[in-house]
Amino acid sequence: MKIVVINGTEKKGVTYRLKEAFLEPFRAFAEITEYVLPKDCPAFCQGCTSCFAKGEATCKDRAYVEVIEKSLLESDLIVMTSPTYVKHVTGAMKALLDHFGYRWISHRPAAEMFGKRAVIITQCLGGGSRTTAKDLKHSLSWWGISEIGVFSGTLYGNVVWEQLSEQRRKKLLAGVAKLSRAYAKKDYTRPARTRLIVKLRFLFSRWLQKRLHRSIPETLDWRYWQEKGWLDAARPWRR
Ligand SMILES: Cc1cc2nc3c(=O)[nH]c(=O)nc-3n(C[C@H](O)[C@H](O)[C@H](O)COP(=O)(O)O)c2cc1C
Repeated sequence: MKIVVINGTEKKGVTYRLKEAFLEPFRAFAEITEYVLPKDCPAFCQGCTSCFAKGEATCKDRAYVEVIEKSLLESDLIVMTSPTYVKHVTGAMKALLDHFGYRWISHRPAAEMFGKRAVIITQCLGGGSRTTAKDLKHSLSWWGISEIGVFSGTLYGNVVWEQLSEQRRKKLLAGVAKLSRAYAKKDYTRPARTRLIVKLRFLFSRWLQKRLHRSIPETLDWRYWQEKGWLDAARPWRR
């Protein structure tokens, strides 16, 4: 199986430790590709909206985004990690998520995303790891992913792994290990079940595409939906 990891920080700190613990059981059998932000995508979306209107190939940062996107689409499991920065993901992670705005269900979602599995690992010092996880879950589910496992931990007291109490370190590692065991047991030869909320988002977006088509006949998004057959009976979760 293939795993792609997107690390929201270059620091080999607590998030890194927890991510390593998560990957441990997979190392023997999975092919793991990791990206580290901002190194692997050191570019902000400038809001030109060219990806939406003219196509993703016109993005000034396509060279970075393309490589990561290819790995995401080829993977069986996506792992996204970020420490909490002011209650949310790191700026580097947010910059990457912005680059995938055109892949939201309301625009041109990749059919491969429906049926994929994902895991989110976040942690914070005192508060905000859940809202951080929510940032990531929001994007992943709007990319079409239904099965998303979350670990969000709180350190309470210290930001250096070695200086945390033994008890706190054990608790954090036990939480990640539980999630890891659950995901190592899954059958990756079969797609994950698409949840009702994802289907409803898709159907609403389909209605919107048809509706917009009446006033603006030839948008890139509409053509994409048309080619996929999604404006007719085809659905991305049916293979
Ligand atoms: C810019 C910045 C903002 C932060 N904001 C929060 C926050 O809102 N809540 C919190 O509990 N910790 C916050 N922290 C602390 C980090 O989440 C915490 O130290 C975390 O363990 C860092 O993970 P790392 O070792 O993987 O870098 C912040 C740290 C930085 C650098």
